[in-house]
Amino acid sequence: MSAPVRTSIADTEPTIVDVKLGSRSYGIVIGRGVVATLGARIAALRPGAKAFVVTDENVAGHVLPAVETVLDRAGIKNESVVVPPGESSKSFAVLERVCEAIIASRMERGDLVVALGGGVIGDLAGFAAAVVRRGLDYVQVPTTLLAQVDSSVGGKTAIDSSHGKNLIGAFHQPILVVADTALLDTLPAREFRAGYAELVKYGLLGDAAFFAWLEANWKDVFAGGEARDHAIAESCRAKAAIVARDERETGDRALLNLGHTFGHALEAACGYSDRLLHGEGVAVGMALAFDFSATRQGLVSKAEAARAIRHLAAVGLPTRLRDIPGTLPSLSQLMELIAQDKKIKRGMLTFILVRGIGAAFIETGVDEAEVRAFLSEKLAER
Ligand SMILES: NC(=O)c1ccc[n+]([C@@H]2O[C@H](COP(=O)([O-])OP(=O)(O)OC[C@H]3O[C@@H](n4cnc5c(N)ncnc54)[C@H](O)[C@@H]3O)[C@@H](O)[C@H]2O)c1
Ligand SMILES: [Zn+2]
Repeated sequence: MSAPVRTSIADTEPTIVDVKLGSRSYGIVIGRGVVATLGARIAALRPGAKAFVVTDENVAGHVLPAVETVLDRAGIKNESVVVPPGESSKSFAVLERVCEAIIASRMERGDLVVALGGGVIGDLAGFAAAVVRRGLDYVQVPTTLLAQVDSSVGGKTAIDSSHGKNLIGAFHQPILVVADTALLDTLPAREFRAGYAELVKYGLLGDAAFFAWLEANWKDVFAGGEARDHAIAESCRAKAAIVARDERETGDRALLNLGHTFGHALEAACGYSDRLLHGEGVAVGMALAFDFSATRQGLVSKAEAARAIRHLAAVGLPTRLRDIPGTLPSLSQLMELIAQDKKIKRGMLTFILVRGIGAAFIETGVDEAEVRAFLSEKLAER
């Protein structure tokens, strides 16, 4: 099925969220139908620039022709490359293909890369833009919920190494993000739900009122329309504020990793397969972080932790180890995966813990033995 992509005017007045980073500042344009304004926005920002679109096979089928039309109408010369969908495209081999295609199309400094797709395409095309000719500008056109609320904002780009995810990359901010929320209508329900885990993360880590709003309105967010646009804009505002404070993650930006230490270990344990999508791993990880903060650290009441976990489960996200299909590795293997993600210094781990919903903080002194005992208990419940 092809998306009903509008190529004329935007359906409603878009919301614009500014990412304030001095000379690297940019806007995130959010709304139904805003991809129709992509060409005009690029032409205004970089008059005369050519565009090179990087996308994947799934997204190409839904929106590439519409995006080409929008660019053509704005008088922007454009070419594209289509790569296979999925995490495996964040590889040296695919990066090489993309870089060579960009160079073959005679893109000069001053021309633009357009990342049209989910987080995989954003990370891959953003990194290609960072390295081709020592850096081309790029525009993010995120097409998954995860990419609209998280990966398209903040300038982290990367491919994967055989040693782990995202180990080869660069900080490279886009010059514009155009998040057309209507493009999410073709996203498989499971992918939307996984992206919702990153969206609700902003409530859980720093905004109790937003969390309460999501508890009341999540069905409308899933259905589309104004509630969805509002939730995406709130998420972008939250991420933009954190990134503006700490662009290179020397402090506060680590709060965005709530649920990610457990989550990454579980994703790795599942071989980054579709047994557990990234957002699903984050959902289990956030539930474990609340549980751990309540039962092992006495930081938050059990009732408050249960409330956070209840909402994740209500939207259909996994929250317990037993919700993950198939077998999981042993306790010591899981601990090793955790140690790979976060270095253990003198038996101490860094975790994002919580004092309540909307009150996450960075704890650098979490006792490895406590985590081990906690996970042992959780594995036994499986
Ligand atoms: N750079 C960052 O700050 C950051 C943050 C979070 C995650 N990430 C990265 O993001 C990646 C995950 O991103 P993702 O969840 O968007 O995955 P993805 O890009 O693989 O997209 C998920 C699936 O949806 C398909 N798809 C995309 N848009 C569609 C649409 N509109 N309609 C139908 N199908 C569509 C894709 O082809 C793919 O099969 C991971 O590699 C992760 O490391 C990066
Ligand atoms: Zn994430």
